Amino acid sequence: MLKIARRAQNAFATAKSSNQESLNGLRMLQICGKQYACDDWTNLPSSILIKAQRPIKLHNSLDHPLQVVKKRIQNALISSDTCSKYAIRDELDPVVSAVQNFDQLLVPTDHVSRSKSDTYYVNEKYLLRTHTSAHQSELISECIMSGSYDGFLAAADVYRRDEIDSVHYPVFHQMEGVRLFKSVQDVTRALQCIQNVDLETASCNQVENPRQSVHDPKFQHMVSVHLKATMESVMKSIFQNPNLQFRWIDTYFPFTSPSYELEILWHGKWIEVLGCGVVRDEIIKNVASPHQIQINDYNNGIGWAFGIGLERIAMILFNIPDIRLFWTDDERFHSQFKGIDNRNIQFNPYSKYPPVYKDVSFWTNAQFHENDFAELVREYADDLVENVTLIDSFTHPKSGRESRCYRVLYRSMERNLLNTEIDKIQEQVVKNLKDVLNLDIR
Ligand code: PHE
Repeated sequence: MLKIARRAQNAFATAKSSNQESLNGLRMLQICGKQYACDDWTNLPSSILIKAQRPIKLHNSLDHPLQVVKKRIQNALISSDTCSKYAIRDELDPVVSAVQNFDQLLVPTDHVSRSKSDTYYVNEKYLLRTHTSAHQSELISECIMSGSYDGFLAAADVYRRDEIDSVHYPVFHQMEGVRLFKSVQDVTRALQCIQNVDLETASCNQVENPRQSVHDPKFQHMVSVHLKATMESVMKSIFQNPNLQFRWIDTYFPFTSPSYELEILWHGKWIEVLGCGVVRDEIIKNVASPHQIQINDYNNGIGWAFGIGLERIAMILFNIPDIRLFWTDDERFHSQFKGIDNRNIQFNPYSKYPPVYKDVSFWTNAQFHENDFAELVREYADDLVENVTLIDSFTHPKSGRESRCYRVLYRSMERNLLNTEIDKIQEQVVKNLKDVLNLDIR
């Protein structure tokens, strides 16, 4: 999220699949049954489109480790917070508007996450959600209108253009949770349902991560306490460790204030497991305005929200070494998770096949963004690429041009690769570096 803001000028990898049709000369994309007109924001590769339209998403596939983790979080939350009723959602369409993904969440207009180099755009107005927070406003609205839920839990696939390594993949999964409170009495009741709450634990850094001035400080403090106690309880339950150690870090999200990250101590290392905070009041108020009557109850309402990455938890919990494994069809992977319920099994890696390395050097240009290069490699290698690393860079003393050398590590998780097949892929990558990204190969 915090990379330097930059917009790649050339959307090189527009979808060339059967999803594409032409209507009155306009290139159209059909995604999840809806038609979208392409424009110069479109940067959706066909490999991503296929994943976005999987009939059964990974987090809904029986015994898939992501489904196991999703269920554990749902159950942990429902059993640790018995006073609250959460609506469960896990079939949300991945195409959302830029309004939902950014504007409704008060993301600044110049925020890097809006750039074409970080996000998959269907067109200028629509994109593949980059986080489950994109559904906050609509689900808060549903929750308030229903009158019978205090909050929601929404799990979904999310999409980000990113680097390539063992923990980054352009598609991953998140669970979003929101709990709304109408009054101080409401949060007092909810706190009574949670055991071992220490009201002092919800400290926050007033200067950089302030409480919102619209709220009564006592009310907001209690909501942060409820949030932190609930998150700790969920984590203890998922990791089946009542003595799990935590560290709360003040942070920044455009849509919450105060905002926190939670870290757990795992095999001697602090690992971040979730982001959360007190929902910005404007978000609740903006949801409220079209439904003035129903919202009256929430006029002084307040809420908390969290987002958890499911892959991150599954990789720690089951010791899964490579994020690509979640996408494999290999039975040697899936058989290990059949019927595991609450058992914390350790994944037993099957043999690693040898890697094939290919280096490429080129002069960069002003538009070059590393994510565009990663996308290009993926477009041709798909899950055969394990890692793309910058191994050397220098600036020419006279021309001022920058040269970079990247090493691409190709490896299949299922079979031995042939040098000749990787040569063909690398040839395509280099050709596109020249023809589409307009880079000078060295
Ligand atoms: N959407 C945030 C992310 O993807 C996580 C988050 C959710 C933070 C809800 C605060 C509240 O990083």
